[in-house]
Amino acid sequence: MNKQTIIGLLLVVVTGTFAVGSLTSCGGSAAPTGYTAEQVAEALYVALKSDRKVYASKIVNRLVKEEGVIKAHEEWKENKALLLPAQFFREGAEEVDAAEKPFEYSYSLQSTWPLNYENAKKKTPAVEEGLKAVSDPASEFYGKKWVGEEELGGKTYFVGIYPDRAVAPACWQCHNDHENRKPEYPEFKKNDVMGGIVIRIPKN
Ligand code: HEC
Repeated sequence: MNKQTIIGLLLVVVTGTFAVGSLTSCGGSAAPTGYTAEQVAEALYVALKSDRKVYASKIVNRLVKEEGVIKAHEEWKENKALLLPAQFFREGAEEVDAAEKPFEYSYSLQSTWPLNYENAKKKTPAVEEGLKAVSDPASEFYGKKWVGEEELGGKTYFVGIYPDRAVAPACWQCHNDHENRKPEYPEFKKNDVMGGIVIRIPKN
């Protein structure tokens, strides 16, 4: 190795160190434009699905199925029961709708075979397409995310649809036995995709 190569190598190492140093020093204050809508939506999804799993497995499944001390019921107040996981999720989404936030995002839980017929009425074409994609076992997007865009009230939104899986026995047992099932309703089992979490974020 000649002298010039060694100096060259030293320069790479030194510049490399500076670059890492400057990245680390501004790591605590990320630039406002640092994340794409898709990354923000995915980060939200991970938090939402984690909370949903904890509520379904450590609260509903444990207290209703394992310990048998309380029921989960749609009319939870009148029956001194737990909220259904979908109701718990919706209450959270409504709090978020009403809260002050850096930009107006929203989320909801939906499926192509809703037990709550009200949920069927609210779907936009993008949501219809995305829900089918993530929950049809024949689709290449089954169990993965589906992302798209839509125009609502003159604004463009990123829309991401993420799988909602049967993470606790309470999920599939309650759905498979429900009186609102239509004839084409699937027979769900562990880990099946039962629907989708729809997340909408305005595009800049
Ligand atoms: C005790 C019964 C019960 C349990 C447990 C339950 N669900 Fe539901 N789920 C329902 C009912 C009833 C609805 C419709 C409620 C509403 O929207 O008000 C619903 C709604 C949903 C929806 C929205 C589409 C629809 O069917 O209306 C999805 C997706 C869903 N549940 C998946 C799950 C998953 C996954 C779990 C476990 C994490 C779960 N559910 C646990 C009864 C239950």
